[in-house]
Amino acid sequence: MKLAVIGTGYVGLVTGTCFAETGNDVTCVDIDINKVNKLSSGQITIFEPGLEKLFLRNQKEGRLHFTTSIEAAVKNAQVIFLALPTPPGEDGSADLSYILGVANQLGTILHTDDYKVIVDKSTVPVGTAAKVKAAILASATSPIENAFDVVSNPEFLREGVAVDDFMKPDRVVIGTTSDKAIKIMNDLYAPFVRQGNPLIFMDEHSAELTKYAANAFLAVKISFMNEIAQLCERLGADVDMVRKGIGSDDRIGKRFLFPGIGYGGSCFPKDVKALAKSSMDLNYDFKILKAVMDVNEIQKLHLIPKIKSFFNDDIKGKHFAIWGLAFKPNTDDIREAPAFYMIDALLELGATISAFDPEAMHNSKMVLKDKITFAENQYESLQDADALIIATEWNEFRTPDFERIAGLLKAKAIFDGRNLFDLQTMENMGFHYESVGRKSIKN
Ligand SMILES: NC(=O)c1ccc[n+]([C@@H]2O[C@H](COP(=O)([O-])OP(=O)(O)OC[C@H]3O[C@@H](n4cnc5c(N)ncnc54)[C@H](O)[C@@H]3O)[C@@H](O)[C@H]2O)c1
Repeated sequence: MKLAVIGTGYVGLVTGTCFAETGNDVTCVDIDINKVNKLSSGQITIFEPGLEKLFLRNQKEGRLHFTTSIEAAVKNAQVIFLALPTPPGEDGSADLSYILGVANQLGTILHTDDYKVIVDKSTVPVGTAAKVKAAILASATSPIENAFDVVSNPEFLREGVAVDDFMKPDRVVIGTTSDKAIKIMNDLYAPFVRQGNPLIFMDEHSAELTKYAANAFLAVKISFMNEIAQLCERLGADVDMVRKGIGSDDRIGKRFLFPGIGYGGSCFPKDVKALAKSSMDLNYDFKILKAVMDVNEIQKLHLIPKIKSFFNDDIKGKHFAIWGLAFKPNTDDIREAPAFYMIDALLELGATISAFDPEAMHNSKMVLKDKITFAENQYESLQDADALIIATEWNEFRTPDFERIAGLLKAKAIFDGRNLFDLQTMENMGFHYESVGRKSIKN
């Protein structure tokens, strides 16, 4: 099938590449000419494990193309994916201007006798498929009512494992009541659901809400465990034990029960906010979501009082090493990353910082500029540091050379926002070690 993907960011590039991998001819569009030039010349623009190999292979075999022209991409495409940003507006609602702007353009491009399916992959509020359809029709220059359907196909991929998630999805949700669109979407996704993972067809509204419900539920799980961790610290319980104790119950499940310094990224914060706002617009006060957001705000700065207390409230002039800047491991995405909230709080208190992240250095430098220094590797960041702070659970931070850390840190103190290290090891090595929901090791 010939496909167009409009928006070539984290979702668009993975979507385009994975559809090319199953033999489709895909043209990805982006408004960012530098991005398109880079991609066209074979340079990948995001870090996502496994993506580069597929990207290079499909580009080489002529199934994956890049352009800035929506018209050129859409002309021969049977299916057009919208993988555009939906950032939070000032009131927390999803900003649909990118999507509706492109919909307006599509109206001028579609033709009466050339049926196309427009697929919304972005995370959008209920009713957006209808808005996209209305925008296309409003800008149409010929009668195109029967020349297209708008389908909601929310994306559930996780950054860091996006290729696997896309190639072997737990499920694919498709919102449409058009038989023509159902047939095309069924054919397109057939290679991805061969193992019996379901392709779930539903109406557009239900599909749009499913995405928000999924992200909001996962955020509830995270904030719930973060509150349990708060209690553990006050009661002398160990959150790791509580986690194992409840996670072995099938009704609860083992995943997403790890406490930490809050959720970040481009999805959970904005999607929880947008769902709460949509609810308010319907005069429904979705109370759990407000609590989830409040807990997360507090949790992002969970380590700060611990750090302040260790240094007797005297942070001015202290130097900290921070390991991890990405909002989670295996991505270079720093959007809403908890590390950045901590950095701001420490700088405000007069500290200096040297940070290291295996993949997010470039993106972080663009944002932080010279507000902090950036180390070449995790150990270089410890040079002259009073203490180490861990903000992202990259695998390479899990079993470091503790002797080397102890030798480099002035205060031999570690503040771990991701519970990477064993308490007994920390005790034996003589570290002052504080984590989340576990006993403080006060050497
Ligand atoms: N990132 C994720 O893990 C993830 C997962 C599931 C769903 N989503 C949703 O998918 C959507 C896209 O997210 P993302 O993370 O890929 O965003 P992104 O910011 O990485 O990518 C969006 C891309 O769209 C481009 N763009 C903007 N306006 C354009 C236009 N008029 N024409 C062509 N291109 C244009 C931007 O330049 C950018 O490259 C959002 O709604 C998001 O909530 C994201």
